[in-house]
Amino acid sequence: MESSSVFANIVRAPEDPILGVTVAYNKDSSPHKLNLGVGAYRTEEGKPLVLNVVRRAEQMLVNDSSRVKEYLPIVGLADFNKLSAKLIFGADSPAIQENRVTTVQCLSGTGSLRVGAEFLARHYHQLVIYIPNPTWGNHTKIFGLAGLSVKAYRYYDPATRGLDFQGLLEDLGAAPSGSIVLLHACAHNPTGVDPTIEQWEQIRQLMRSKGLLPFFDSAYQGFASGSLDADAGSVRMFVADGGECLAAQSYAKNMGLYGERVGALSMVCKTADVASRVESQLKLVIRPMYSNPPIHGASIVATILKDRDMYNEWTVELKAMADRIISMRQKLFDALSARGTPGDWSHIIKQIGMFTFTGLNTEQVAFMTKEYHIYMTSDGRISMAGLSSRTVPLLADAIHAAVTRVG
Ligand SMILES: Cc1ncc(COP(=O)(O)O)c(C=O)c1O
Repeated sequence: MESSSVFANIVRAPEDPILGVTVAYNKDSSPHKLNLGVGAYRTEEGKPLVLNVVRRAEQMLVNDSSRVKEYLPIVGLADFNKLSAKLIFGADSPAIQENRVTTVQCLSGTGSLRVGAEFLARHYHQLVIYIPNPTWGNHTKIFGLAGLSVKAYRYYDPATRGLDFQGLLEDLGAAPSGSIVLLHACAHNPTGVDPTIEQWEQIRQLMRSKGLLPFFDSAYQGFASGSLDADAGSVRMFVADGGECLAAQSYAKNMGLYGERVGALSMVCKTADVASRVESQLKLVIRPMYSNPPIHGASIVATILKDRDMYNEWTVELKAMADRIISMRQKLFDALSARGTPGDWSHIIKQIGMFTFTGLNTEQVAFMTKEYHIYMTSDGRISMAGLSSRTVPLLADAIHAAVTRVG
């Protein structure tokens, strides 16, 4: 009897707005259905991809009978941490050479953000964090639940489907001194709109002059442009000035390790002594949360990053993924142009990374799902990585119909 349950008063929670798209997709029996909701790479054949270099690394790990399954330290695999810091800050980063960086292995990007947020909520003097409007939906919850007060700064201008740079500067300029600012290192999710190098430089100057603390979310290094170095440019610019920052890294997309949950949180400090004290406190955050991180995924990453050959193979495979996504942008743009779909669609080729923020409204999205079995988040974000040469025409037909038939 339900009424006898001590949990009888539990209210059903809504589906996650992003993962819920896949739940709805799975229930659809149409053979033509297409899931452009979740941000996971697909091949031209629409299949998930395990990188060749990842398979190779896993094989090596399995064949190495000296490997055991002991617990990792609280901060994770030492090699993995060192190599992850080098990957994001650059091999010749003075901050690394001066031991001013502490890196802890965390549960992918999400876990890295959460550990950083918990640390800041406990130890940082300013509990306000500014996140871009819009941003990845989980940011608000991660930072809010950690105890930070979450505020938004202007980022996207629907009129231009580009950056609201003036609004961004005004909002950060008005933020209380010391505020934390969440910045997407590259391939801003969901908009696909990144500042230019010159704009990053202005953001850096403003933030440093006001003592705002940068917290970079790097979920797409190498995935945006195909170059690991270019995609870390924003982060490196902030580290080069000698100031402090946090960076959360994910290997979900760029190594295709989604379900392995591999990531890292780095904190760049002013001195080695501060960095080591910070690390001691990060351990106190992690220990009661999940004790220590899993070993397998981090071992795959470390195996690849420390071997020159495997590293090179990875960069080639990574670039191929990035290039395929970029080619889908052009194909979709061309398909809409060929159909004479009303409106300016050039943002499809201007935006960068996994997603296109189409500008389609909630009703148009609902129409495309109902009539064309195409699934995406209700804000009109589509994963370009979920498209293929075969499905581009279907999507273009659906967008054309939505724009011409639904206001
Ligand atoms: C902006 C951003 N941050 C962080 C993440 C975290 O992903 P994960 O926890 O799978 O590494 C994502 C994934 O979609 C993302 O888009």
